[in-house]
Amino acid sequence: MQLVFDQVSYTYSSHEGEIAALRGLSLSVGEGEFLGIIGHTGSGKSTLLQLMGGLLAPSAGRVLLDGQDLKDRQVRRNLPTRVGLAFQYPEQQLFAPTVAEDIGFAPRNAGLSAAETDERVRFAMRLLRLDYDRYASLSPFELSGGEMRRVALAGVIASRPRLLILDEPTAGLDPAGRRGLTAVIEEYHREGAGIVMVSHSMDDIARLATQVLVLKDGAAVWHGTPRAVFSHAEELRAMSLGVPQAAAFAADLRASGLPLPEGLLTIEALADALAAMGGAGTGAGTAGAQRETGEATGAAHTSADAGTGAHHGL
Ligand SMILES: Nc1ncnc2c1ncn2[C@@H]1O[C@H](COP(=O)(O)OP(=O)(O)OP(=O)(O)O)[C@@H](O)[C@H]1O
Ligand SMILES: [Mg+2]
Repeated sequence: MQLVFDQVSYTYSSHEGEIAALRGLSLSVGEGEFLGIIGHTGSGKSTLLQLMGGLLAPSAGRVLLDGQDLKDRQVRRNLPTRVGLAFQYPEQQLFAPTVAEDIGFAPRNAGLSAAETDERVRFAMRLLRLDYDRYASLSPFELSGGEMRRVALAGVIASRPRLLILDEPTAGLDPAGRRGLTAVIEEYHREGAGIVMVSHSMDDIARLATQVLVLKDGAAVWHGTPRAVFSHAEELRAMSLGVPQAAAFAADLRASGLPLPEGLLTIEALADALAAMGGAGTGAGTAGAQRETGEATGAAHTSADAGTGAHHGL
C-alpha cells in the first residue's frame, strides 16, 4: 500500500482571510516505511496529516492511495483499515462509556461482528499494554492522562491500519510514558505497517525514521534519510529544531579535535565510533560492532518479513 502526495497545496479560508498551510508538497510513503515529520509550530504538520487521513481535501494537487484519488468517496470507504489517523491529544476524542466500547467503535462501525470486534479490542489493548481484565469495563474518563492516550491509540489500531499516522503521539507524557508509547509504535512498525509520525524528538526521529521531512511555511525544506537531513545541523539549529543529542555531542567532540566521522545520529553509533578510536583492543571491538550491526540488520529484515507475512492473516 502506497500513499502519494502529488504537488499538494492546502489553503484555509476564514473570515480573517486565506492561510496557505501547505504549498506544493510531494511525497510517498508505504508499508514498512517510517516517515518522520518535523517543523516549527504552524509549519503545516497537522494539516498534512489530516490530508493523509482524508479529513481535508487538497486545494490543489492530488492525494493518492494505491493510485486512487482520496477525494473519491468510494476510495475513502473503509479507510480506517488502511490509513489510521491519531490526532494531536487523541484522548480528547474519547466518548464511549467503557474502554472496550471506545476501542471497538471503528471495527463495529465497519460492520464486524461482536466476536470479531472483541478480538480486535483485545489485540489493540495487548499492543498498547492495557490489561483487558483490568481496563475493559472502566470508563475512559476515570483513567490517567497516559492511560487515556493509550486507549485513544488502541481505538485507531483496532482497525489494524496498514499506515498509522500519529500527530505528536507522546506530547505531554512523562519520560516513562513516552518510552512505553514509542516502543508500541516501534512494535507496530516491526510488524510491517507504515508509520507517519510528527515529533519534536529528534532522537526518536533519528532512531526510527526511514525518511525525514522538514516542513517550513507549508513547504519541504529537506526530505531524505535521517543522515542526509541531520547533516544540515547549523540550519536546523537556526530553525530551532536542533539535531539528535548524539549528533550534537559528536559535533562538540569533533570541534575539540577528535576525528569522528559524520552521520553519527544515535548514542549506539557514537559509542561504537568512540570505541573504534580507542587504541589497543579496538580491532576486536570494531569487528564486534560491525558483526552486531550486520546481525541487527539481518534480524530487522527477518522480522519485517515475518510481520508482512503475519499481516496477510490479519
Ligand atoms: N482550522 C484552521 N483555520 C484557519 N487556519 C488554520 C486552521 N488550522 C491551522 N491553520 C493555520 O494553518 C497553518 C498550519 O497549521 P498546522 O496546524 O498544520 O501547523 P502545525 O505544524 O501542526 O503546528 P503545531 O506544531 O503548532 O501543531 C498555521 O498558520 C495555522 O495557523
Ligand atoms: Mg500540529
